[in-house]
Amino acid sequence: MFESIRVASKGKAGVLVVGQFSGESLNPETRALDGDGSIVKASKRKDATGALGSIVEVHDSNKFERVLIVGLGARDGFSSGSLRTVAGRVGRALASAKTTSVKFEICKALEKLKKADAVGAFEAGAMIGEGLGMLSWSFDSLRGTATELPTKAKLAVHSCCKAFDDGVERGLGFAEGTNIARTLSQTPPNIATPMWIANEAKKMARKSGNMKCTVFSGKKLEDEKLTGHINVGKASENKPCMIRLEYTPARGKSKKPIVFVGKTMSYDSGGLSIKVGGGMVGMKRDKDGGCGVFGAMHIIANVIKPNRPVVALLASAENSISDEDYRPDDVLEFRNGVTVEITNTDAEGRLVLADGLCWACDKENPEYIVDMATLTGGVVVALGSVFGGMWCDDDDVRAKIEAAGESTGERVWRMPHDAKYNAMMKSPIADIHNSAPVREAHPIQGAAFLSHFVQEGVKWAHLDIAGTHVLKKDTDFMCAGPSGFGARLLADLVERS
Ligand code: BES
Ligand code: ZN
Ligand code: ZN
Repeated sequence: MFESIRVASKGKAGVLVVGQFSGESLNPETRALDGDGSIVKASKRKDATGALGSIVEVHDSNKFERVLIVGLGARDGFSSGSLRTVAGRVGRALASAKTTSVKFEICKALEKLKKADAVGAFEAGAMIGEGLGMLSWSFDSLRGTATELPTKAKLAVHSCCKAFDDGVERGLGFAEGTNIARTLSQTPPNIATPMWIANEAKKMARKSGNMKCTVFSGKKLEDEKLTGHINVGKASENKPCMIRLEYTPARGKSKKPIVFVGKTMSYDSGGLSIKVGGGMVGMKRDKDGGCGVFGAMHIIANVIKPNRPVVALLASAENSISDEDYRPDDVLEFRNGVTVEITNTDAEGRLVLADGLCWACDKENPEYIVDMATLTGGVVVALGSVFGGMWCDDDDVRAKIEAAGESTGERVWRMPHDAKYNAMMKSPIADIHNSAPVREAHPIQGAAFLSHFVQEGVKWAHLDIAGTHVLKKDTDFMCAGPSGFGARLLADLVERS
C-alpha cells in the first residue's frame, strides 16, 4: 500500500483526517480546524453517518488538498481497537489518492469519551500506526519480469500532539514485527528451509543488539537428545535445527525468562502418512507458530525492551518423504525419557514441540512457557479464524494471555485439559502414541500429548493457531494471506507480565 511510513513532526500535511461519532455533529475542536466551513458542511451530509470506518471526503477545503471525515462508530462502548479499522479504511483512501502526507486530528474527539471507554492520545496513535503498518504489508520480492509492480507512495504521518506521534511509532513497531512474521510465512519452502530461517534469526539478533541466537543442528541435536527434530527432519535434505533466541534486558537480567516455543515446520508434506487431495498446498505455512514467535521477539527487542529475559525456541524441520523417513510403527524415546509410538507421521508438530518443551523445562528455568503451533486441522473446524485455541490451567498466565488477546485483537479461547483426554493418548506398546486411532477431540489430544513434556509445576500454555494464521479475505487493515498471528499477542503478553 505504501513504500514506507514515517512519523513527521515538522512540515504541513496535504490531507487532514478528523473523526465523527455515529449520529453526532463534529466536536467544537474539530470545527475550529475548518477555515472556510467546508468541513462542517460536509459533516452534515446524509452520508456523514459516523459509522465506523465510513469516509466522507472534502475536496474544497481552503487549507488542505483534501479532508477525510472518518466515522468513529458509536460513542458508547468505543474501544481503541476500532481505530485499527479506522486506520485501515483511511489508509486505503490515502493510497488510492496517492497521498504522501497526512495529519490525524482525532485526539480531541476522543477526549470526550466516557471514563470507562477513554482512549488517550498515545494509545490512539498506537492503534493508527499499527493499522497503517499492517495495511502496508506486501510480498513482491518473488515477482519476476512478467509483473509490473505499481508504484507506491512514501507516507509522512503528522498529528496534533507528541503523545499521538509516539503512539504511532509504537504501533508501527508492532506492525513491523507482525509483517516480519507474515513475510517469513509467505516465503516458499524451497527458500525458507530450517537453516535459512536460522540465518534470518541470526541476522535479526545481530541487528537488534540485545539478542543472542544459537542454532542446534547435526550432532548437537543428538547430543541434546532432541529426538523429535532428528526424526521428523530425517527425510529431508534441508536439515532440522532448533533455533534459540535470547533477549537480554539492560536491567532485570536475573529474573526468570518467559519462554516461547514455536512450531516451525518449513514444510509439512505429512511424511509417509502423506497428505492427500488438497491437504498439502499451503503447508509452507506450517512454520507460522515459529514465525509469530520470531515477530514477537522483534517487537520485544526493539519496541518493548522489557526488564526481564525472554527466550524463544523455534523447533524447525521439514516433514518430507524418502527412504530415510521416520515411519508409522517406530518408537522414539524423548529427552525426558517418555517413549512415543509413531502412529501417524503427519502428527509431526507435537514431536518437535516436545523437544522444545523438554528443553525449556530442563535448561531455561522458565517463569512460564507458551508454545504456539499450527497443530491441528481440528481447531480450524472448532474455532475458525476468529479465535486461536488456548490450553492453560494456570489462572494467572491464562488471564494475561486473554487480556493480551483482547488488546491486540489476536484472541484465544480456552479449551480443556483432562485425564480422560490424556488416556486417549496411551499407547499399547510405548508410553504414548502421537496420534490416537479416533479423531474425536483431536486438537485436545494434541494438547494432551504435549503435556507429557512439561515438568510438573511449570506454568504452561499451548496455543493452536491453525485457524488464525492465515486469512481468506481482505479486511479493513489486513489482506488475504498470512496474518502474522501471535507476534503482537506474545509481545503484549510480555509487556503485561
Ligand atoms: N500442520 C498440520 C495441521 C494443519 C492443518 C495446519 C490445516 C494448518 C491447516 C499438522 O501437522 C497435521 O497434519 N495435523 C493432523 C493431526 C492428526 C494426524 C492427528 C491433522 O490435523 O489432521
Ligand atoms: Zn502434519
Ligand atoms: Zn504440521
